Amino acid sequence: MADLDGRVAVVTGGAKGIGAGISECLAEQGATVVVADIDGAAAEEHAAALPGRSLAVATDVSKADSVAALAKAVADELGTVDILVNNAGVGPIPTPVQDMGEDEWDRVMDINARGVFLCSRAFVPSVIESDHGRIINISSIVGQTGFALVIQYVASKFAVTGMTQSLAKELAPHGVTVNSIHPGILETELHGGVVKLFSAIQGQSEEATWDWFRAEIPLGRFQTPRDCGEMAAFLASDRAHNLTGAAFNVDGGWEMH
Ligand SMILES: NC(=O)c1ccc[n+]([C@@H]2O[C@H](COP(=O)([O-])OP(=O)(O)OC[C@H]3O[C@@H](n4cnc5c(N)ncnc54)[C@H](O)[C@@H]3O)[C@@H](O)[C@H]2O)c1
Repeated sequence: MADLDGRVAVVTGGAKGIGAGISECLAEQGATVVVADIDGAAAEEHAAALPGRSLAVATDVSKADSVAALAKAVADELGTVDILVNNAGVGPIPTPVQDMGEDEWDRVMDINARGVFLCSRAFVPSVIESDHGRIINISSIVGQTGFALVIQYVASKFAVTGMTQSLAKELAPHGVTVNSIHPGILETELHGGVVKLFSAIQGQSEEATWDWFRAEIPLGRFQTPRDCGEMAAFLASDRAHNLTGAAFNVDGGWEMH
């Protein structure tokens, strides 16, 4: 019997990048996975490729009505949700704070922070009903330490870390665990976009910027979506039943706390 047989998991931003790796690892452990992503076509394609039962729902996590429609679709189709993975996120446009527009602040905070609040609010009643309730939030190495020129992104990821700790305390009496995963550097669309913008600011090639990021990682290699997926599958399992409110770095040693 696999670790997650009979469990239902919702993975936001589950169609591509880290979310795709997480949905794969959960499905391989027997979970029925809901791929909830703003890119509905990519969600359909990825859900169809997963082993076992799956569902794709086009969702914008920053919009309350879209998240409510997701929760209803999942309840109608699959019943109680055991595992919520708040992964959907966008990267920042690196900008000195004195030049940063409110639109850029709102764009990043609405998806990365508000999205976690809206999805948690929508799914907590169901997750509480589960005997194996889990919430897993995807923060970042910059959810615990600062980084120049991306104040909006760092603020959004610290918010995710704070929501994780607060919900861990709030939901512990219901037997629900809440933890955060802090990925390092992955060669996803999101980080590729950030590298392109940083390279332009620094007047260097994208290859030089990727090399700079790699040099900061003690293990000397980038993380993969499945590195994060394996951690999510463990946190979702009964083996992690006594872990809550904790931050797990999946970063090759970039941050050591
Ligand atoms: N790539 C990295 O190096 C890195 C490092 C640390 C943390 N993270 C975090 O990991 C998460 C995933 O990042 P990634 O690198 O896989 O990004 P990605 O761009 O490869 O994938 C993000 C997914 O989220 C979806 N998405 C975007 N906006 C959405 C919205 N409003 N509603 C629903 N879905 C939406 C996209 O369609 C896409 O499928 C993000 O929260 C990101 O901040 C990434």
